[in-house]
Amino acid sequence: MRKALAVLVYVCFTGAPPAVKGMSETESEFLCVCLVLLQPMKIECPINLYFVLDTSETIALQEPPPGSLVNSIKEFTKDFAEKLEDKNYKGQVQITWSVGGLHYSQDQIVFSPITNKGDFTKRLENITYIGKGTFTDCALDRMTKEMTADFAVVITDGHVTGNPCGGIKASADRARDEGIKIFSVAASQKIDELGLREAASSPVDFFRDHYIAVTFADNNPKLMTSTSDTIIKRIVRILLMVSVVIVLFKVKHFPPEDDIKLTVYFTKGPPGEPGPKGEPGRRGDIGLKGSPGRPGPKGEKGEPGPEGQRGLPGESGNKGTKGDPGRPGYSYPGPRGPTGDRGEKGKPGAQGSRGNCGQKGEPGTKGLPGEPGEPGPDGEPGPRGPKGEPGNDGDRGLPGDPGLTECDVMTYVRETCGCCDCEKVCGALDIVFVIDSSESVGLSNFTLEKNFVINTLNRMGSIAEDPAAETGTRVGVVQYSHNGTFQVIHLNDSKINSLSAFKEAVKNLEWIAGGTWTPSALKFAYDNLIRGSQRAKARVAAVVITDGRYDPRDDDSLLRYLCESPGVDVNAIGIGDVFHQGQDNETLSSITCNKKDRVKSLTSFTELVAEEFIDQIETVLCPDPLIVCPDLPCQMEPSVASCVQRPVDIIFMLDGSERMGLENFKHARSFIEAVVNRLTLARGDSDSLHTRMALLQYGDKNTDRVAFPLTSELDTIMEGLRRMTYIDSSSNVSSAIMYAIDNVVRRDQVRRDAELSFIFITDGFTAIEGLDESLGNIRKNGGVSTVVAMGGEVDQEVLMKLALGDKSAIFKGNNYMVLSQPSFFERFIRWIC
Ligand SMILES: *[C@@H]1O[C@H](CO)[C@@H](O)[C@H](O)[C@H]1NC(C)=O
Ligand SMILES: *[C@@H]1O[C@H](CO)[C@@H](O)[C@H](O)[C@H]1NC(C)=O
Ligand SMILES: *[C@@H]1O[C@H](CO)[C@@H](O)[C@H](O)[C@H]1NC(C)=O
Ligand SMILES: *[C@@H]1O[C@H](CO)[C@@H](O)[C@H](O)[C@H]1NC(C)=O
Ligand SMILES: *[C@@H]1O[C@H](CO)[C@@H](O)[C@H](O)[C@H]1NC(C)=O
Ligand SMILES: *[C@@H]1O[C@H](CO)[C@@H](O)[C@H](O)[C@H]1NC(C)=O
Repeated sequence: MRKALAVLVYVCFTGAPPAVKGMSETESEFLCVCLVLLQPMKIECPINLYFVLDTSETIALQEPPPGSLVNSIKEFTKDFAEKLEDKNYKGQVQITWSVGGLHYSQDQIVFSPITNKGDFTKRLENITYIGKGTFTDCALDRMTKEMTADFAVVITDGHVTGNPCGGIKASADRARDEGIKIFSVAASQKIDELGLREAASSPVDFFRDHYIAVTFADNNPKLMTSTSDTIIKRIVRILLMVSVVIVLFKVKHFPPEDDIKLTVYFTKGPPGEPGPKGEPGRRGDIGLKGSPGRPGPKGEKGEPGPEGQRGLPGESGNKGTKGDPGRPGYSYPGPRGPTGDRGEKGKPGAQGSRGNCGQKGEPGTKGLPGEPGEPGPDGEPGPRGPKGEPGNDGDRGLPGDPGLTECDVMTYVRETCGCCDCEKVCGALDIVFVIDSSESVGLSNFTLEKNFVINTLNRMGSIAEDPAAETGTRVGVVQYSHNGTFQVIHLNDSKINSLSAFKEAVKNLEWIAGGTWTPSALKFAYDNLIRGSQRAKARVAAVVITDGRYDPRDDDSLLRYLCESPGVDVNAIGIGDVFHQGQDNETLSSITCNKKDRVKSLTSFTELVAEEFIDQIETVLCPDPLIVCPDLPCQMEPSVASCVQRPVDIIFMLDGSERMGLENFKHARSFIEAVVNRLTLARGDSDSLHTRMALLQYGDKNTDRVAFPLTSELDTIMEGLRRMTYIDSSSNVSSAIMYAIDNVVRRDQVRRDAELSFIFITDGFTAIEGLDESLGNIRKNGGVSTVVAMGGEVDQEVLMKLALGDKSAIFKGNNYMVLSQPSFFERFIRWIC
């Protein structure tokens, strides 16, 4: 009998044990009820159930028309609440329900306090979605504040935009400490499962068991009423189990069996009833498993009995359930950074200033007059008087200019200063980017949008140095989310006078992560950026990026706002599947004033930064570029020593393959030596400015050699160069990169703020299996890359890969002699600095 009882209890607790396979939840529930009935007693179970509904932007605008998914969730919740029946189990366990709820986005709105279900469903109707970012952790904290104990149902997509209250997990733990068990329900199929699992109580597979509120097939929502059925059943089962615990507490003679392990997850039962008057003591029973329940009020003191034999030690308390596995760290590689913009022109080297002319010497004192000649007839002139004394020395002038011809100057300038390169000019152009920064875009996609802006600007020639200048490109950015949350870079911001200043400003834009109010953003862009700051001869182009539908509470008519002002070309880029389904094409079309050719639909954000797409945009924004070559000679400006203002860790990767040949190997070595001498080395490894360098000569997998590790010590470098011998074997650049990352980058700890710069000296003929993975590793370490390729025969495809796709990072020459030419050398130094 005892054993049978033990099995019953086991079944009751675990649902379907291996020994009784095939038993349904209903049957195990039935068993629980039976157990409760073993000992007649009355148990009251007033239950609070609290709903926490996500009405952020990702939910509100997920399905067309906007708000429809929120409405479906309301329906689901209503159906759920209506199914909650007060119920009595055999006159012993009485369950009565009360419900309440809140909905949330970044803020929370309590739409119903804990009340009866009729009142609750009425208040539920009143919900209008908030439609901004998602802070689920704060919503859980608020829930914990608003309710006492029992059960909560959270309906969300699991997706959050921030964790201002410490994260979902921590908030869920705080709720648990207050005795609240949370069921986590997916709003629809589009979810972040991790967020949902974090919200769920433990055991997670019980509280987050693929529950889903609404599914969509062909855009038709279907309420998943089976979800609420299951949850209700499970709550009832928990209550019955807790009741069993209470009953077992009373059936004191029930001993544990060694081979049976009860797992009680739900430790906080309803308070026990007052204990009965103590019976006289007797021999102590074997300790029952400690049963949780809040202690009942103290019973009356029993008469002291004779001392019982000491009981066996009670079973040790249950081990706490295993914590959920920690959330995996977010370690996926970040989105690819923007193509670095072309370095700004280097400052030309200083020409020594022309020496002052020496002061003119003072005139000498006058010589004595010559003796008068004898008067005579027209005699010959007398002899010349003696020379006067010399005047005082003037101050000596500094040496003057060497006599350079204009032609020399031009050659010199052309070779060294680079400011004579011809340049693309788009005329007077104002570009205004209007980019979507709403929650649904997501942080990584938002970063892609910023990269798009920067990459596009890289193609637009020089930025106007002064907002009032008649020519040059000016650029502005509006990033938008819900109404009133704009961040801008103004067209007429005088601080944006170069590409790098602009790039910095774009990088500083932060993802807003709220709702999508596209029409208002267009109005804002015109009113605040374009109007009043237009230049007489400038074209104005706007580029609007959006990921989909906007909040319908916004004013539709504003979509065409930019069309009403003459001279603004509007381009719209729609990203996501919605634009291929049709209904949102109209939005894009309105934005571009019905010019269909100004609309671009992309499927994913990564397409934004693809070269081909930027090519297209370049053609649209700058259809007839002028190529302007400057008047020579250029003006000279004082020079700045190289690589002094920022830290660079350079790793030379020298191809030691047999194709190179010993002569070329020596040229390459001299080149590296010249670079070392030219750059300013850091003063020790803690110097956060200046340069450090390393050199790896690579052959095949087992012959890679570090000539010198990352260092700023000139002696180490020179010694390393001196000792380095030519490997002269086949080469494998993939394994060499891995080797460099493991042995140079990791070991020597690239400085935190330093740019990690790989410089490959190779012709590209090398084993390349695994190259993509190796290059991925460079990217992951934040590295950039430059390729120096000498010789007539190169493998351009490999070089392009090594240069991480940036053609301008490849330096070519016909032979290795080129390395020592000043013009090549200077161009190279400017590039890496
Ligand atoms: C619904 O909202 C309206 C206006 O905000 C309010 O007057 C009404 O009382 C609310 N209804 C319920 C059931 O809360
Ligand atoms: C920039 O232009 C805006 C209008 O677009 C104007 O309100 C603002 O005063 C201008 N700022 C400067 C510094 O010119
Ligand atoms: C958006 O915000 C502006 C300024 O705060 C306000 O004038 C406008 O009415 C708002 N638009 C909507 C649709 O709420
Ligand atoms: C919407 O536009 C995209 C690209 O412009 C096109 O591929 C798609 O077929 C259009 N959808 C409809 C329904 O017109
Ligand atoms: C980024 O956009 C793509 C579609 O282009 C989407 O599939 C993906 O989920 C988005 N990422 C985030 C984090 O929202
Ligand atoms: C080159 O190195 C890569 C990566 O270590 C390796 O997978 C590949 O087999 C090597 N190729 C040759 C030809 O040794």
